[in-house]
Amino acid sequence: MELALYCPVHGYYETKTDNPGRQGDYYTSVGVGEFFGQLLAFQFAEWLEQLRIADCGLRIAEAGAHDGQLAKDILAWLQLKRPKLFEQIEYWIIEPSPRRQKWQEETLKQFAPRIRWFAGLEHASRITHHPKFNGIIFSNELLDAMPVRRLGWDAQNKKWFEWGVTVEGGNFVWARIPDTLASRSGERAGSRGFDPSSILHLLARRSEAETAPSSVLAVLPDGYTIETCPAAESWWREAANVFVHGKLLTIDYGFTADELFSPVRMYGTLRAYYRHHASDDLLANVGEQDLTAHVNFSAIRAAGESAGLKTETFSTQSQFLTRILGKASKDDSFGEWNTNRTRQFQTLTHPEHLGRAFRVLVQSR
Ligand SMILES: C[S@@+](CC[C@H](N)C(=O)[O-])C[C@H]1O[C@@H](n2cnc3c(N)ncnc32)[C@H](O)[C@@H]1O
Repeated sequence: MELALYCPVHGYYETKTDNPGRQGDYYTSVGVGEFFGQLLAFQFAEWLEQLRIADCGLRIAEAGAHDGQLAKDILAWLQLKRPKLFEQIEYWIIEPSPRRQKWQEETLKQFAPRIRWFAGLEHASRITHHPKFNGIIFSNELLDAMPVRRLGWDAQNKKWFEWGVTVEGGNFVWARIPDTLASRSGERAGSRGFDPSSILHLLARRSEAETAPSSVLAVLPDGYTIETCPAAESWWREAANVFVHGKLLTIDYGFTADELFSPVRMYGTLRAYYRHHASDDLLANVGEQDLTAHVNFSAIRAAGESAGLKTETFSTQSQFLTRILGKASKDDSFGEWNTNRTRQFQTLTHPEHLGRAFRVLVQSR
């Protein structure tokens, strides 16, 4: 998955500029229009005003900025509606790919003096020598694009195995790797490996007492598949450790661990997207189609809490944006309510569109 999406030569996210959007393979809330960014900007401004008490600069850091459109919508609104705050903000883009950084620089030319790029969060802390990050770290549809590990249940032997990919007759095919879990059992869960004895514990990061009950495992069908995403958890934990005061926010489609571990998701949530069609053929069109898995919000939430963050919000996108709109509509500066905004807001919040499947997690310190 990592190669298919991020190989510098053939990776999907390296070669296709227009993957979100009308011509691309899927839509995101950013593609709906500028209103999404404006609502976030309103909320960010309120949070940053509260953080101003601390004696250092204010920052907004975005990861997974793709072509820079969301950053543009947020910065344009802040510049116009909160000019004083805008002058104090440094906008960081966390972008490992030099090629995507170039696309972003192109989109964000007009805001160049306010923006700094970093290849990763660790680079940002090292380069700025500024351990006192005050501000907001956020992402939209970042964690679902991180490579997952796919685990299957071997009902006969009553144990989990890992799904791998091999080549047969010139084609990619799935292969069961029976021993990877056992050989990694010594590693800490959340780094690259995991403890095979307690898969639900791994999914939810819950206490041992709550791990997969043997009654569930007794009836779990052969081949029942789940994903774990150690990359997303480590990223979140790292982000949690960057700031002294502030908020860590992500918006994505996903479930809690209990929702994930469901009979209706026999084959997990990993899907391919190709020209607006979802497909289970994950090994087709390698490098040409998007691969994405639902975020396990229980695991992400627990990763933040274990790093000392407090969970402030876990809600649907609809609830989150409606709450912001409630505050913004009482503020004269927010701007005129027009049919364009109505149409965008409906798409962003309607349960059949982006409102229910997308969740928002906000943690703070
Ligand atoms: C599904 S796209 C979302 C794009 C954009 N945020 C939006 O909402 O339209 C996911 C993006 O995250 C980027 N990405 C993946 N891993 C990343 C990481 N560790 N740090 C920063 N960006 C990453 C991908 O390259 C891709 O551009």
